[in-house]
Amino acid sequence: MINLEHLRTAAIETLRLNDSGGFTKPSLHLYPHQWNWDSAVIALGLSNFDIAAAQTEIRSLLKGQWRDGMIPQIIFHKNTPNYFPGPEFWQTSNAPNAPQILTSGITQPPILASMVRKIHLRHPMPDFVQEVYPGLLSWHHWLHVDRDADGSGLASLIHPWESGTDDAPRWLSVMEGIKPVNLPLYNRIDNLRVDPGQRPNQADYDHFIYLVDFFRQRRYDSKAILRDSPFLVQDVLFNSILYRADLDLRALAEELGEPTMEIDKWLAKMKQSFQERFWDEERGLYFDYDLRNHHRIEVNSVFTFAPLYANLCSEQQAQRMIAEHWQNPQEYGTGGKLVYPATTLSMSEPAWEPRRYWRGPVWIIINWLLLQGFNQYGYSNLAEDLRQSSLKLISKSGFREYYDPLDGTGCGTTAFSWPAAIALEMIKPEESAAQG
Ligand code: SER
Repeated sequence: MINLEHLRTAAIETLRLNDSGGFTKPSLHLYPHQWNWDSAVIALGLSNFDIAAAQTEIRSLLKGQWRDGMIPQIIFHKNTPNYFPGPEFWQTSNAPNAPQILTSGITQPPILASMVRKIHLRHPMPDFVQEVYPGLLSWHHWLHVDRDADGSGLASLIHPWESGTDDAPRWLSVMEGIKPVNLPLYNRIDNLRVDPGQRPNQADYDHFIYLVDFFRQRRYDSKAILRDSPFLVQDVLFNSILYRADLDLRALAEELGEPTMEIDKWLAKMKQSFQERFWDEERGLYFDYDLRNHHRIEVNSVFTFAPLYANLCSEQQAQRMIAEHWQNPQEYGTGGKLVYPATTLSMSEPAWEPRRYWRGPVWIIINWLLLQGFNQYGYSNLAEDLRQSSLKLISKSGFREYYDPLDGTGCGTTAFSWPAAIALEMIKPEESAAQG
């Protein structure tokens, strides 16, 4: 039996532990700054016991917003040399659009508007919504306009870090086409803090750093980068999160009496492009798209289920993906070797590894997005199974960054903020089931 009261107390303690006075670190040593989509979900977690802290978290994130609207992946509130690549490597102060505060020069999944709306629905905060709405709108505008590489209305990504799923095998074929020549000398810190067998491989890291160097040489000029970046993809997960966040932004706009026409256009365009671009009728899967080489990236990853979260697939597509893939013990299903869903990569993929970062481990954030998707399509039994198994994992192995789907071993960093924030949501079954 899981002791929910104990879990709640431990989750609050973990968020307090990572509180850095104004923002919450994902974890004390591995991620000692403010990360975009971590922070948005942390704000929701905080709202369960401290609304003021939740609002402060969001305000701190918005302090990093660029003049063109981008909300960056990392905000370096304090310039301490304890993370690589830190601000001295990113060199965003050379970028004309960068804010006063130091940040990285790329973005991350735009889940913030959805979190603001979720908090607002529970604890109405009209003044705060009014305050943050312009920032949210300009970020979405930037994603739909500055990051629309092909007129499809889908946002494009220029770096695997923007996907939030750094070394996911869906990026491997694109990376193989990029030769990291003239790579600046650099020293990783991440693999000194965590078992290197659970972190991205060195070859992936070389590519990550090569791309940052490529961008900083261009002083983060959006247009030049979209034109020239060797990495340019459209991601199913990112665009699902964006679509859902557009819906939430629209609801906030309506409530504030703001015009919704622009948002409506984004939604309509995305809805149409999404199916055409990503859906593979033969395999019954959504695949990411490589815009440089003009083809779908045929890697079977758990993000194929993200359109359920966004309400972007038909009932029939949902049913097919669940029957053929989610419940298939060779891919994502239990009943074979898998005990704890959801593995983030189909076990049938050659790159699958149970303990390496985004190559297969369970991430609680993804479980939480999936269970909301299952609920939206009426699969409440699947959602409930996922909620229970997530809570079981957390009580067994603690608030870990990710978990081995075969035996539940905790991996990566400890006292990680995401599962703490999400545990506070998951311990309330009615909230997990709530639809936006
Ligand atoms: N996840 C990256 C890291 O490992 C950054 O977003 O630091």
